[in-house]
Amino acid sequence: MIEAGRDVEFIKVGDLVSVPFNIACGRCRNCKERATGVCLSVNPARPGAAYGYVDMGGWVGGQAEYVMVPYADFNLLKFPDKAQAMEKIRDLTCLSDILPTGYHGAVSAGVGTGSIVYVAGAGPVGLACAAASHLLGAACVIVGDLIPERLAQARSFGCETVDVSKSATIAEQIDAIVGAPEVDCAVDCVGFEARGHGKDAVKEAPATVLNSLMEITRAAGALGIPGLYVTGDPGGIDDNAKVGRLSIRIGLGWAKSHVFTTGQCPVMKYNRQLMQAILFGKINIAKAVNVEVITLDDAPRGYRDFDKGAAKKFVLDPHGFVRKAA
Ligand SMILES: NC(=O)c1ccc[n+]([C@@H]2O[C@H](COP(=O)([O-])OP(=O)(O)OC[C@H]3O[C@@H](n4cnc5c(N)ncnc54)[C@H](O)[C@@H]3O)[C@@H](O)[C@H]2O)c1
Repeated sequence: MIEAGRDVEFIKVGDLVSVPFNIACGRCRNCKERATGVCLSVNPARPGAAYGYVDMGGWVGGQAEYVMVPYADFNLLKFPDKAQAMEKIRDLTCLSDILPTGYHGAVSAGVGTGSIVYVAGAGPVGLACAAASHLLGAACVIVGDLIPERLAQARSFGCETVDVSKSATIAEQIDAIVGAPEVDCAVDCVGFEARGHGKDAVKEAPATVLNSLMEITRAAGALGIPGLYVTGDPGGIDDNAKVGRLSIRIGLGWAKSHVFTTGQCPVMKYNRQLMQAILFGKINIAKAVNVEVITLDDAPRGYRDFDKGAAKKFVLDPHGFVRKAA
């Protein structure tokens, strides 16, 4: 932290901290219940806010040289020892968003010791969810995507993979891996930009992941849904998709007594424990998501590569701090 506002009591200039992507006041009913992803005070338009994100309260920053963090004592996570933290700084950068988000997806899907897990999506959130599932003790983590490099990245740290663009269904591919066409826990790390499956993998089909997860998840199982669904998508594939209305087969989920957990991840619920897991070497998240640290000037290239499906998590390092530590 480089400067403190007059009401900041506990965080000091010079502290090394992690900033959750959610902004939360720490005083409202939801914050008191640890639902900091839907804080009631920081966005006049709706519950929940984030830095530099459309429709999330108008807060600037996030991907910038500096960011102003409101309610800093509440929002910031201080690393206990700067020198120790700098040794793991590439991993610790993942604490702001993807690691807690992936972990939240796994926890809300009920992942625990011995679970068979399917994670839809091998982007940074999906890979973080897969690594988190290993941390939680899953017996077998199967990651689905249609980008070969991303599936190879998932295999690089011990996941099984499913290529959703193949003609074999997800259930058939899961059957070939675990000997049954279903899983205990499923996590949607794709959201509304989902592609269809099989020959439909070339098209956007926003309800595909949710419907397929209901098919493959055991009765009485749970679906973690960190993948984003929106209330408005002007570029949506039809009039329904444009207002976030999807053709979801809820009857199937109901018949199987599925539990659904949606929404922004309440980062603060998990970031301290995950920091300790990183500091004590229990999870190698930077390796799992293939962190590449880049300058702010290089961000447009990072975005281009990411849009093309690079199997990487680009971390912006505006002041060269992370690169110096490496
Ligand atoms: N809930 C939260 O708090 C939170 C936080 C961060 C990100 N997110 C959301 O999580 C999602 C994933 O984020 P990301 O950065 O990893 O995105 P990403 O776009 O890099 O990854 C999504 C992956 O899903 C794959 N995919 C597309 N259709 C598929 C299908 N039918 N089955 C399996 N895979 C499919 C894509 O090829 C891509 O690799 C996004 O919707 C993002 O907005 C949510």
